[in-house]
Amino acid sequence: MALLPILKFPDPRLRHKAVPVAVVNDEIKTIIADMLETMYEDNGIGLAAIQVNIQKQIIVMDISDDKNDPKVIINPEIIDAKGNELMSEGCLSVPGIYAEVPRAQEIQVKCLDREGNSQEFSADGLLGHCIQHEMDHLQGKLFIDYLSPLKRERIRKKLEKVRKQNF
Ligand code: NI
Repeated sequence: MALLPILKFPDPRLRHKAVPVAVVNDEIKTIIADMLETMYEDNGIGLAAIQVNIQKQIIVMDISDDKNDPKVIINPEIIDAKGNELMSEGCLSVPGIYAEVPRAQEIQVKCLDREGNSQEFSADGLLGHCIQHEMDHLQGKLFIDYLSPLKRERIRKKLEKVRKQNF
């Protein structure tokens, strides 16, 4: 397994779109293992392949307190959505920034699991929000895109400053 570098906003590669996975083979399983390791290392609850510069529709998540319940979803589709709800979100690609984002309250998701088997389930609460956030990544979209351009520009400047301080 290997830790993968996480792209940080405003890296233009975060705007790429992911393509569906054709077959869940050993290469894909290695990517999944590396993504999970990377997510746990950075204390994230979700990571999309786009964030580690892999343009495939792969998402890993773990919303459990003990970080022992990894979830992998491949080629996800939202086939039904109900309600509306605001929740505070953060992102490993936009470190230190949190903002409330409107999401559907409950979604019905169709996807492949890490073995390549077809799955369908409903998700709400934190899991539902997390899936919607990660699915946005697969389309090149970030949670800060829901904010005003002025706020987004402020975040960009703030992250730039932090980056400069780290050099
Ligand atoms: Ni994110």
